[in-house]
Amino acid sequence: MVDSIGVAVIGAGMAGKAHAAAWRNAPSLFAPTLPPVRLVSVCDVYEPVAAETARRFGYARHDTDWRAVAAADDVDVVSVVVANHLHREVVEGLLAAGKHVLCEKPLSDTLEDARAMASAADRAAERGVVGRIGFTYRRAPGLAAIRELVTDGTLGRVLHVSGRYWTDYGASPDVPISWRFTGAPGTGTLADVGSHLTYVAEFLAGPVSSVSGGTFTTAVTERPVAAGFALRGQDVPLTGERAVVENDDYATFSARFGDGTVVGSLEASRVATSHPNGLVVEAFCEHGAARWDQERPSEIGLALQSDGSRTGGYRQVVLGPDHPYVAGGMAMDAPGVGWGQNQMFEYQARAFLDEVAGVVDPLPTNATFHDGVHNMEVLDAVARSAAADGAVQTVAEAVHA
Ligand SMILES: NC(=O)c1ccc[n+]([C@@H]2O[C@H](COP(=O)([O-])OP(=O)(O)OC[C@H]3O[C@@H](n4cnc5c(N)ncnc54)[C@H](O)[C@@H]3O)[C@@H](O)[C@H]2O)c1
Repeated sequence: MVDSIGVAVIGAGMAGKAHAAAWRNAPSLFAPTLPPVRLVSVCDVYEPVAAETARRFGYARHDTDWRAVAAADDVDVVSVVVANHLHREVVEGLLAAGKHVLCEKPLSDTLEDARAMASAADRAAERGVVGRIGFTYRRAPGLAAIRELVTDGTLGRVLHVSGRYWTDYGASPDVPISWRFTGAPGTGTLADVGSHLTYVAEFLAGPVSSVSGGTFTTAVTERPVAAGFALRGQDVPLTGERAVVENDDYATFSARFGDGTVVGSLEASRVATSHPNGLVVEAFCEHGAARWDQERPSEIGLALQSDGSRTGGYRQVVLGPDHPYVAGGMAMDAPGVGWGQNQMFEYQARAFLDEVAGVVDPLPTNATFHDGVHNMEVLDAVARSAAADGAVQTVAEAVHA
């Protein structure tokens, strides 16, 4: 095993801070089997945020150019947490420099770039370099618990899945334009939160084979331009100019999973006023149903047919040590303690470090870049469906797109 692992984070915005915290906390989850993890650098083109984030989370230094991280001998592992259209250049550069890379979702903003990244990861793997994508919600103990109930037969086969990821970060027309609002149809809310919703639905119901009913709308068609650096939710001075919103504020589609007998309806929005982070997924199965709601992440709703109609029906199951990720993982792993989205980044980081260090533990490894390409192929099929007035589009067709 290596003597120590040096980590860095590229992009210190909203999710970058979650990564910075996650590398810091990951060794403290589960048994202390990892070699020492060195917190080396936080990199952001906007120096004040790089410096502040490095200081806040205990990193030794900060950088303002990802190439400095790629060239640094003391960095082994890097998370890439910048805008989607920047992923390819940074990820390929890091992999070529021999760094193990954990890239944020979606893998990129185009299928072409995503496929090139998967090829780069394959070439890097031949040199022992790990490239993975962070499908963070697969680390939600509640979603992992529902999957366990599906696969162990308690709920049995999923027949129908329904999901929505409602957010409201774009509801106000006063929110300035940013990278999230530019790009081709499908690079908006579909790529941003619909990408999560899609792999979560597949986590429970298996791979999506076709989609239909793709519908996009842009509810706020132009936005003010910020004068200088703007992070989400912060008040910033404006230039007085306005810019066109290019992509989807809202996206919905139907999905068929596997052989097509399992169906689902999925909806993503960034204009769902009063729902800042509303991911809800419900799976209807042979022997019952289960539901998970991000606003109540430490519980699931569960209904089992075996309870009968007299006293049966949905009930609250508070998650604890009998469920995935909790026993021996949470610092306080007692029943009813509770947790949130930040912990999912920590489990994700721990699984990545374990893989790099060769530590055998029960955490599933992170998804591959090829899984990231598949995720984008589903999103591409939705965009094709939306462009064809909702017509059915198979995901396999994307292979030739
Ligand atoms: N897994 C999750 O739950 C989750 C949540 C939010 C975002 N994300 C993903 O994380 C990525 C970043 O999203 P965000 O919300 O943190 O974005 P953000 O806009 O809040 O932050 C991006 C940061 O990158 C910096 N940056 C821009 N160009 C750079 C470059 N060339 N080198 C270094 N830094 C650069 C910006 O200055 C900014 O601080 C996206 O891919 C997004 O989809 C994932």
